[in-house]
Amino acid sequence: MMATTSANTFSVGSAISFNPKANAHPQSKAFGIKLNTPHFLSFSGLKATSSIRCESESSFLGKESSAVLRQSVKPNALKQNQRSWSFLQPQASYKVTILGAAGGIGQPLALLVKMSPLISALHLYDIANVKGVAADLSHCNTPSQVLDFTGASELADSLKGVDVVVIPAGVPRKPGMTRDDLFNINASIVKTLIEAVADNCPDAFIQIISNPVNSTVPIAAEVLKQKGVYDPKKLFGVTTLDVVRANTFVAQKKNLKLIDVDVPVVGGHAGITILPLLSKTKPSVSLSDEELQELTMRIQNAGTEVVEAKVGAGSATLSMAYAAARFVESSLRALDGDGDVYECCYIQSELTEIPFFASRVKLGRKGVEAVISSDLQGLTEYEEKALGALKPELKASIEKGIDFVHKQPVDA
Ligand SMILES: NC(=O)c1ccc[n+]([C@@H]2O[C@H](COP(=O)([O-])OP(=O)(O)OC[C@H]3O[C@@H](n4cnc5c(N)ncnc54)[C@H](O)[C@@H]3O)[C@@H](O)[C@H]2O)c1
Repeated sequence: MMATTSANTFSVGSAISFNPKANAHPQSKAFGIKLNTPHFLSFSGLKATSSIRCESESSFLGKESSAVLRQSVKPNALKQNQRSWSFLQPQASYKVTILGAAGGIGQPLALLVKMSPLISALHLYDIANVKGVAADLSHCNTPSQVLDFTGASELADSLKGVDVVVIPAGVPRKPGMTRDDLFNINASIVKTLIEAVADNCPDAFIQIISNPVNSTVPIAAEVLKQKGVYDPKKLFGVTTLDVVRANTFVAQKKNLKLIDVDVPVVGGHAGITILPLLSKTKPSVSLSDEELQELTMRIQNAGTEVVEAKVGAGSATLSMAYAAARFVESSLRALDGDGDVYECCYIQSELTEIPFFASRVKLGRKGVEAVISSDLQGLTEYEEKALGALKPELKASIEKGIDFVHKQPVDA
């Protein structure tokens, strides 16, 4: 409906071009997106429709949020453009595991994921302190059952039979550190956790938050390859926070309604590898050279802004949890058969010559269904230059991750 399939086919899904005119009059709201223009909705990750009615429903989320979440439910049961969600009840059927669930991101993420009507079981794993988090969360009267798992001996059980695994395990930055400074600790943590994922739920969607994402995703890919279970369509680096930040900062700068704005962010997830494509902002905005430069740099350094404000107490946790919860919810909707789910994420890609690259993708039941190539077409000179500049750093981070696994191969 909104897209034409391009001639290019990439290793992860196929490429799709968007018709920008389809997004002329966006309106949206809430945790996800609620818009009158179905075409625009697709860009925003969370499902939207103009026909939502929830007045008769009471919910732990309240009417608006309840409506947004209810949008996730069984779209295939209804004819296109005739969707009426009012009589549908959310179907809790998916199982989600969070690895690193007792941490700064893990806890609020667990809370937000517990609110999803699509989840029947929420498994919380950490090396310590997860029992209390699970006990606390289990008192919320939302559909999913919460189970806790502590330490390596319980890791396998936390993963058996799950559909989505989210990984915020690892150490965060302190002031003065780059994401790459976390490599030595987090690379080993991610490698160990992915080995367990490969052994216990190789078909799950795997969503990596642990930094440096530019390297931890290639690490995960190598481990999965060595285990013989790598499906590039189901391995994601979570870059949703870059999109959330870009949307927020552009809306503030241009005095737009926050929820109306959508900026694709491509490349990677560290410093200059984060490339917001501000020329592709919907609705389109006009930016002076100074504004363009200022916004781009703020989006690239937004993580550091939080690290410095927290003066040693960690990095972004609440906004990260919000962003990851959006990505989890989008994945669940895609698993549930919604054919209209789009998100930016960092994946194995043939969109450029760099083997892992963040871009907008279409999510489906089997993971990445298509890579959206049109975002990289018709870039401004500024964006072309920034794209050229990010490639060497991104390539080096990818190679560092792959080398790490090659130097200490996994047990097949
Ligand atoms: N992708 C992004 O956009 C993004 C944004 C912010 C932070 N991050 C990253 O997310 C990670 C977590 O950040 P945080 O603020 O939650 O840190 P945190 O220290 O508050 O929490 C990390 C949790 O991981 C747990 N953990 C450590 N080793 C583990 C292991 N082997 N198995 C399971 N759990 C383990 C710890 O016990 C802790 O509970 C960091 O690497 C951070 O850089 C990513």
